[in-house]
Amino acid sequence: MTENKLSTGYHLGGVDTVISVDDVNREAAKLGSDVTREQIAALAANDPYVVIEGLNAGYGKMEVLHDFNLQVGRGQSLCLIGPNGAGKSTVLHSIYGFTHIFNGHILIGDGEHKQDITKLGANQTLKQARIAYILQDKSVFPNMTVEENLWMGGYLLKSAAEAKERAERVFAKYDRLAARRRALAREGS
Ligand SMILES: Nc1ncnc2c1ncn2[C@@H]1O[C@H](COP(=O)(O)OP(=O)(O)O)[C@@H](O)[C@H]1O
Ligand SMILES: [Mg+2]
Repeated sequence: MTENKLSTGYHLGGVDTVISVDDVNREAAKLGSDVTREQIAALAANDPYVVIEGLNAGYGKMEVLHDFNLQVGRGQSLCLIGPNGAGKSTVLHSIYGFTHIFNGHILIGDGEHKQDITKLGANQTLKQARIAYILQDKSVFPNMTVEENLWMGGYLLKSAAEAKERAERVFAKYDRLAARRRALAREGS
């Protein structure tokens, strides 16, 4: 038998074809050189809800994103693909207000009524633009119970009673979650 270089991802199955970072860069460069701003706008049906224009952003003095452009329409899903360290998370961090933005704009909203959120910090982004950033994992408060985590999700609501009411609606919908309401969130599934 020939050597099989099977690489396991998150320990759920595997992938038997892995392309190198250089290959990804070459493919991205091919795509990147051809995509115009008009094409990006057309992909968002010329009615974007999120617009990132000419963004230069990074951490401290280090610039990670160079003249980055993106548009997404309401209800659209967007998948960012790129090698580790390419800056995918940095795009999300920039929207949410976690990065240092050197240049460019981030606008959110329908039609002409877009709000410029470029300069907003994470707290303001959540409060003023109602944008939340949900991490792939480790996005719960591990030492709080499942139900307390849900109450936290309602912290922008007018009263704690309203937050609890909303949590009850979630429990009514998801039995498995309701059965674990007093378990600590870190205990997982
Ligand atoms: N909090 C941070 N502070 C400093 N540098 C960071 C931070 N987060 C990411 N970086 C750097 O920014 C670059 C892009 O990282 P990232 O956006 O996480 O890439 P991806 O999500 O595509 O894997 C990498 O060089 C990474 O080391
Ligand atoms: Mg990432």
